[in-house]
Amino acid sequence: MDDPLVALAREAQAKAYAPYSGYRVGAALEADDGRLFSGCNVENASYGLSICAERAAVAAAVSQGATRYRRLVVVTDSDPPASPCGACRQVLAEFGLDLEILAVGPTGEHSWRLGALLPDAFVSERLTSRRPAN
Ligand code: THU
Repeated sequence: MDDPLVALAREAQAKAYAPYSGYRVGAALEADDGRLFSGCNVENASYGLSICAERAAVAAAVSQGATRYRRLVVVTDSDPPASPCGACRQVLAEFGLDLEILAVGPTGEHSWRLGALLPDAFVSERLTSRRPAN
């Protein structure tokens, strides 16, 4: 295990706050400038307020001024490894569909480009209407 981004995501997974689902997720982002950021899932007694690890990592990165990313690693105990949920795909798409995503599980790994996980993504370019606003 010599990929520092995987190691960071594993550390984050160990910090997951998941008393309701018991499903622990760690995520780590590598920014274009080489900085690394991580996040874990943070659950809540009001279940719907739970925050996914991927979005926690994005919030950590943006909070430090990093909005361009090369890679995301997601570590779970799922076999086969779990890809980011739909909401997280959309949040990640805000910062670029070329993002390389590596999902790591107990016995294997799988990788994708974000654009393959979220085809025809809704991105800011779509906000321009061909019709004048009312
Ligand atoms: N979860 C993540 O952190 N990332 C995902 O992409 C999918 C789900 C979390 C949310 C919740 O705390 C637990 O996993 C079970 O859904």
